[in-house]
Amino acid sequence: MTERIVLAYSGGLDTSVAIGWIQEATGAEVVAMAVDVGQGGEALDTIRQRALDCGAVEAYVADARDEFANEYCMPGLKANTLYMGAYPNVSALSRPVIAKHLVAAAKQFGASTVSHGCTGKGNDQVRFEVAITSLAPELKTIAPVRDLALTREAAIEYAERNELPIVTTKNNPFSIDQNVWGRAVETGFLEDIWNGPTKDVYDYTNDPAFPPPADELIITFEKGIPVAIDGNAVTPLEAIMQLNERAGRQGIGRIDIVEDRLVGIKSREVYEAPGAMTLIAAHQELENITLEREQARFKRTVDQRWTELVYDGQWFSELKGSLDAFIDDTQEHVSGDIRMILHGGRATVTGRRSENTLYDFNLATYDEGQSFDQSAARGFIDIYGLSSKQATARNQRLGYSH
Ligand code: ARG
Repeated sequence: MTERIVLAYSGGLDTSVAIGWIQEATGAEVVAMAVDVGQGGEALDTIRQRALDCGAVEAYVADARDEFANEYCMPGLKANTLYMGAYPNVSALSRPVIAKHLVAAAKQFGASTVSHGCTGKGNDQVRFEVAITSLAPELKTIAPVRDLALTREAAIEYAERNELPIVTTKNNPFSIDQNVWGRAVETGFLEDIWNGPTKDVYDYTNDPAFPPPADELIITFEKGIPVAIDGNAVTPLEAIMQLNERAGRQGIGRIDIVEDRLVGIKSREVYEAPGAMTLIAAHQELENITLEREQARFKRTVDQRWTELVYDGQWFSELKGSLDAFIDDTQEHVSGDIRMILHGGRATVTGRRSENTLYDFNLATYDEGQSFDQSAARGFIDIYGLSSKQATARNQRLGYSH
């Protein structure tokens, strides 16, 4: 039986050309698999047909939208995932679910090798391959763009020579990766980091400088997960999609940063994640009233470590699993409502309520009837400041500057 290779297929130029390249280089048959993580764009049937037209022996589409939202985006939300304080790990969250489907397909089609279209300069090759090796150590991986040195020019030339049914995008200068959690745009004139993004870079968001009237909404969370918007029940996928729509209209969630890739390169990225950024802002504020102070402080460290592990392709690692357990435990009481105003590029929290609130009006108020014993503060400060006071006295006695 001829060997089979399962290729993670996007429908774009590189992976379309990869079908033929892999077959020529290895003599194996290529099974193309497209994973729907809510990237939108072309109909998946069109993509499937294109894979077959490009020479795949089988092509199929896995609908992973709910799985992606429930099992990847929601853990990201619980961790308030913002790499370098800014990037909600859009591409990083999608790689492990795609890898999972690749591995399942390899088993189903009896393939010993899987393949992806990443270059050798990015994070995504690492994420795919570390995920694959964690799930199925026996599988081999081939990355034609990297391993067979498939350049963009060569790919276009190959597609034209073989009359592959693809829209050759000689003029589209950007490398784009998108899913329901957001959209990443890089390369082209954005590589000059002084150049501002032009209008055509954006797709999920409108220009925040000319917003429609303000949009007020209430997001209800249960244990850290959005369960209703304005009182209407939603699944995680629906929540993200609805907020992409409403926050996107207001130009919320545009991000422009130079980020530290795992491979050591600093790269300029423009992201749009209207739903993700709105949800994270709401979730963080709900945590502010429901998490105990020390737990909240420690969780910020855990969130950041979790985020770096996920960015670095360690989704299936032991440490990430242990941090998940901690984060899940903290979400026990993160239930309640957050009211927000979406307007002109900002998602602003204006109200919060929860049965589990730790905010105590009677403790916080400066009005009559407050229950906090201010006279106790004096003694607390005397003891709390004692060790610093002692150190300063010693330094003064001996003439040290500190
Ligand atoms: N730099 C981002 C990351 O590593 C996005 C990469 C997405 N790929 C792309 N072709 N734009 O998560």
